[in-house]
Amino acid sequence: MSLSRVFSGIQPSGDVQLGNYLGAIKGWVDRQDEKDNFFCIVDLHALTVYQDPNNLNHQIKSLAAILFAAGLDPAKCSVFIQSHVKEHSELCWLLNCITPIGWLERMTQYKDKSSGQESVSTGLLDYPVLMASDILLYDAVEVPVGDDQKQHVELARDICQRFNNIYGDTFALPEPVIPNIGARVMGFDNPLIKMSKSYSHIRGHAIRIIDTEDEILRTVKRAVTDSGNEIKFSDNPDNAGVNNLLGIYKVITGESTKDVESNFINSRGYGDLKIKVAEVIIEELQPIRKRYRDLMENPDHLDKLLSEGAEKARSLAEKKMEIVKNKIGLVSR
Ligand code: TYM
Repeated sequence: MSLSRVFSGIQPSGDVQLGNYLGAIKGWVDRQDEKDNFFCIVDLHALTVYQDPNNLNHQIKSLAAILFAAGLDPAKCSVFIQSHVKEHSELCWLLNCITPIGWLERMTQYKDKSSGQESVSTGLLDYPVLMASDILLYDAVEVPVGDDQKQHVELARDICQRFNNIYGDTFALPEPVIPNIGARVMGFDNPLIKMSKSYSHIRGHAIRIIDTEDEILRTVKRAVTDSGNEIKFSDNPDNAGVNNLLGIYKVITGESTKDVESNFINSRGYGDLKIKVAEVIIEELQPIRKRYRDLMENPDHLDKLLSEGAEKARSLAEKKMEIVKNKIGLVSR
């Protein structure tokens, strides 16, 4: 029986934070045995906003090291850099030609990122079409992402269906796969906004995967909560900070909601909760940080893993592009 094909991506646009890990990477690692996996460092997506060239180069390598350190096994997953497989950009152009601009202008992330800007790049608007190309190029049927990417995966489905309607069955229809818990980890400094790589330099906002024990402890201890002392999941908006901490605890330990809450029945307020949450985060992230450091000290090995990943991806992508060009009526070389 063939394994179902999974594709997902992550931008090298800032320090990988706990939300990226719990909402996406951890799930990729946990399910890698059961799937045919493609994980992509989407460097071209990162360019939709200006990136300092020297910094970008480092961020790409650092992100690759984090993905392997988190447990992606090169024997089971093709981990590669998007710009190393030129078919992503090529397919993007072809899909641009069948995608109505109105579909892109409606994307929430585009509206958020472009609002108040004097000028935005065409790339920012076109971002979801490149994302659709990433997914459709491999006929991926499962796309494991955090909640914020759901709308983009749904757009990839619309583009897929439109292409298949115009040119006949060509691409497999992808499905977003969103974790039940961990899909939206909120900022420690403000539990009403999503934790984001773009703000990971702001003190107290995020835990970075490569933070030290002290940094983790400090950030969690400073997490914004309400003035109550009951440690329970609740729909009350005032409870957002506590929900976030409990959610993080739950996704890392894998315990049920009831078991998570029962750990804190006799706690003396939010201080205890914060210490316990920091402990489970430290336990989860410290081995990753150690493997990350080892990998960063061996850049040749990292390059080799990435080039093997790109080779596997390229062999599928090249074949798919031939099929796509044929359907459209382009002349083969
Ligand atoms: P990116 O780089 O912003 O985020 C990578 C993954 O992390 C998830 N994530 C979160 N999950 C839970 N809580 C959070 N606070 C949080 N912040 C981020 C994201 O949902 C994502 O799964 N456009 C994508 C990258 C991409 C892609 C693709 C994904 C490009 N091509 C094709 C899937 C398939 C992005 O910017 O992810």
